[in-house]
Amino acid sequence: MTEVLPADAAGIARAAALLRAGALVAFGTETVYGLGADATDARAVAAVFAAKDRPRFNPLICHYPDAETVWADVVPTETARRLAETFWPGPLTLVLPKRAGSRVADLTGAGLDTLAVRVPAPEVARALLRAVGRPVAAPSANPSGRVSPTTAAHVLDGLGGRIAAVLDSGPCKVGVESTVLDLSGGQPALLRPGGVPLEAIEAAIGPVATGRPAVLRGPGMLAAHYAPHLPVRLAAEHVGPDEALLAFGEPLPGAGAVFQLSARGDVTEAAANLFAGLRALDASGCARIAAMTVPEQGLGRAINDRLARAAAGRG
Ligand code: TXA
Ligand code: MG
Repeated sequence: MTEVLPADAAGIARAAALLRAGALVAFGTETVYGLGADATDARAVAAVFAAKDRPRFNPLICHYPDAETVWADVVPTETARRLAETFWPGPLTLVLPKRAGSRVADLTGAGLDTLAVRVPAPEVARALLRAVGRPVAAPSANPSGRVSPTTAAHVLDGLGGRIAAVLDSGPCKVGVESTVLDLSGGQPALLRPGGVPLEAIEAAIGPVATGRPAVLRGPGMLAAHYAPHLPVRLAAEHVGPDEALLAFGEPLPGAGAVFQLSARGDVTEAAANLFAGLRALDASGCARIAAMTVPEQGLGRAINDRLARAAAGRG
C-alpha cells in the first residue's frame, strides 16, 4: 500500500523519515512529480530504477533545498552561480562536475563524473528536502515509457503499490520537466528544453549551444557514460588469474580480483553495486574484467545493457 501524505508538517515529517530510511517517496515539484530516493544510498536509488522498470541506468537529478547545499556536491562555475541566483528555486537543472568526496552514490549519476542538480520551487518540496538533510534523487514519478505525472493521482495510477508514499502537494504549476543545461564543458549546452526558456537563460549568461554535438554529450547517448578502462568480457564461465571478476552469486574460482555484485543473486542489490564495482576492478591491476551472467529480468536488463556497451567499447 502506498501512503498518501498531506502536505502539512506531519506529512512532510513522515515523508522525510521514509526517505531517510531508504524508502521511495514521490513528491510534487513545480514541473512534475518526482520519485524521490536518498541520493547517497545506492540501494534506494536502485529501487527507483526497479520501480520505474527502466531498461537503462539514466543519470538522475539531485534535488536540494537551496544553492548552498547544492555546492557541497558539485563545483560551481561563475556561470552556475549566476544562473542559480537568477533561476533558483525554479525549473532549471545544471550539470556540473561532481565534487571529490561527495556522498552522492555512483549509481545516482550512472557512474558519470558530473551531477545534475536543481532546487525546486514549491515551499513544500524544499521543506521536505530540508527535513531529509541529504540530496534527493528524483526522476519523474512514472513507469518507464509513460507520461510524467503532474498530480498525486497520476503517481498512484502508475506506481501505486510500488512505492512507500506520495506527498500530495496538489497539481504541478509548470507541468513540463526542468530545462537541463550542461555547464561541465566549454560552452554551456542545452541538453533538454524545459520549464525555463532558452531565451531567458541566454539573457542571463549569453549564447548556449543547442546543436547536435551538444545534445550528444547527453546521457543515453553513449560517450558520456562511465566506461571502465579495462576491456570487459561478458558471460564468463571460467576466469584466469590476470582477470578481475565481476561476480553475481557464487563467484567463479581463480580470478586475480573479485568484486561481488550480489552474493545472493539479487539484481536490485547488484545494480546498487555496479558502478562502484567497475571502478574497483578497474583499479585492481588485472588485464581485463570478466563479468558473470546476470539474469535478464528486472534491473538485470539495465545491468546487462551497461556491461554490453562497456564490452563493445561504447562507454
Ligand atoms: O523537472 C524535472 O527535472 C523532474 C523533476 C522531478 O525534478 N525530473 C526529471 O528527471 O525529469 P528525469 O530523470 O526524468 O530526467 C533527468 C534528465 C535526463 O534527461 C537525464 O539524461 C539528464 O537529466 N541528466 C541527469 N544527469 C545528467 C548528467 N550528469 N549529465 C547529463 N545529463 C544528465
Ligand atoms: Mg522522465
